Amino acid sequence: MRQVVVITGGGSGMGLATAKAMPKEKLIVLSGRTQEKLAGAVRELEQLGMEAKPFACDTSKRESVRALAQFAAGLGEVKNVIHAAGVSPHMADAEQLIRINALGTVYVNQEFAEVMAPGSVLVDIGSNSGYMLPGFLASPGVYEMADRDEEAFVGKLVKKSGIAGKKMARGLAYAYSKNFVIWYAKKSAFTLAPKGIRVCSLSPGLIETPMGAVEKGDGEFLISQAAEKRMGRPEELGFAIACAADERNGYLAGVDLLVDGGATTHMKQFKKKF
Ligand SMILES: NC(=O)c1ccc[n+]([C@@H]2O[C@H](COP(=O)([O-])OP(=O)(O)OC[C@H]3O[C@@H](n4cnc5c(N)ncnc54)[C@H](OP(=O)(O)O)[C@@H]3O)[C@@H](O)[C@H]2O)c1
Repeated sequence: MRQVVVITGGGSGMGLATAKAMPKEKLIVLSGRTQEKLAGAVRELEQLGMEAKPFACDTSKRESVRALAQFAAGLGEVKNVIHAAGVSPHMADAEQLIRINALGTVYVNQEFAEVMAPGSVLVDIGSNSGYMLPGFLASPGVYEMADRDEEAFVGKLVKKSGIAGKKMARGLAYAYSKNFVIWYAKKSAFTLAPKGIRVCSLSPGLIETPMGAVEKGDGEFLISQAAEKRMGRPEELGFAIACAADERNGYLAGVDLLVDGGATTHMKQFKKKF
């Protein structure tokens, strides 16, 4: 049976870079909302001798994610799922950030759990912004609601994102959404392990993708904090994500991989005033 890799947000940036780092014999499904972007990305993979199929999907809608999961399962054995779809503070308001980044992760993990076989791997993409949320603001009690009351979950996180005023709301909503992604991937590692599905997350720092270009102004201070004094390259992250998703990496579960050139470690452990 053909082995299938599904990459949400696969039309650009780190999702597309991950596709390029995948084994050539696997069939790649690239998804995102923009058909033309997906078609261009499929052509790029074909030029590299890979086989890829586009599938339009909005990960903030459960039925759309379910259709993607069923499409992929119809092509073969769904072996690797990389959930890279996401939006940043300059692209969306607080509610959209929570719906796309946070609730989208719930939909991807839940709907793909229905079609993934034992021995498969799911990698959710977080962000080092998830580590910037002060400990007293992180809200596992609210995060728990995501599985039982989606609207209450969204409402509470949007409200919490507004506590520092309108100007800060998008940045805080992004940090909340990614703090949740990291938390939910850890939780999923344990809920999906009985099905033989290995789950982890990977959190990039500031990376040279279309999103990175949009956020560079606000995120540039990270470069001065990092051990690697530059932005990360999409192909570096694609390689790291593909390694995390590789079946041979079978003991990597229930953990977040922070791939940010050392910026967060410096800020949290070595910079005095943080
Ligand atoms: N670049 C950075 O500096 C950075 C840092 C930390 C974390 N990240 C995270 O890394 C992941 C990949 O981002 P990237 O930097 O590679 O940016 P990117 O090139 O903008 O890729 C994100 C992709 O997600 C898709 N997308 C957005 N909303 C979607 C939705 N509702 N449903 C389905 N697809 C959707 C976009 O395509 P459509 O618009 O066509 O749907 C786009 O192709 C994101 O989760 C991001 O938050 C990025």
